Amino acid sequence: MLKLAPSILSADFANLLEDVKKIERGGADYIHVDVMDGHFVPNISFGAGVMKSLNGKTELPYDVHLMIENPDKYIEDFVTAQTEFIVVHQEACKHLHRTIQNIKKQGIKAGVSLNPATPLETLEWVLEDLDLVLIMSVNPGFGGQSFIENSLDKVRRLAEIRKSKGYNFLIEIDGGVTLDNAEEVMNAGVDIAVAGSAVFKAENVEERVKAFKKI
Ligand code: DX5
Ligand code: ZN
Repeated sequence: MLKLAPSILSADFANLLEDVKKIERGGADYIHVDVMDGHFVPNISFGAGVMKSLNGKTELPYDVHLMIENPDKYIEDFVTAQTEFIVVHQEACKHLHRTIQNIKKQGIKAGVSLNPATPLETLEWVLEDLDLVLIMSVNPGFGGQSFIENSLDKVRRLAEIRKSKGYNFLIEIDGGVTLDNAEEVMNAGVDIAVAGSAVFKAENVEERVKAFKKI
């Protein structure tokens, strides 16, 4: 079954908890927390404070996607009892192996994300340490962009590597996921799909989550 991580980047910030309650009732699996610094990506979103404002108010675990330079400096800020994954970008890490260990030292599952132009091979020597690999299916920075089709080839190749080497990491995809392509995404080997606008811009957010979960 495809797990769903709705991105609160597309939520109504003035009614964040209400929106989170809707996805919770719909059966979402995680809250995807998109953190943007205006340097690594050309947009600024929010920081750990916004995420922490939800602590204890929802049962959903956090899937933290750090689209920031120098992630090591901020990892601790995102560690809470509800933080399941902290995901950094390969392109933002000078010492990726060290960053992964820094996340794990906090008792949090470690993920690495790849931009559309970054080859899978850049992860070869850290794959065995990872709990999650996030394949970007848009260029990070904004919600509501269209899905880059060849990301599915990347997912398929990654799933093959995982199988042949016996690795355990989960495969996540992020960007442009809709009800129309969710099944294809799942069949390519994705375990967790992130969806922002396809969830929060729906007329009925709770029903939309349920529709995703039926796939
Ligand atoms: C893009 C973010 C995504 C984005 C997804 O930089 O990492 O999580 O919010 O939004 P949609 O699903 O609208 O493409
Ligand atoms: Zn994201």
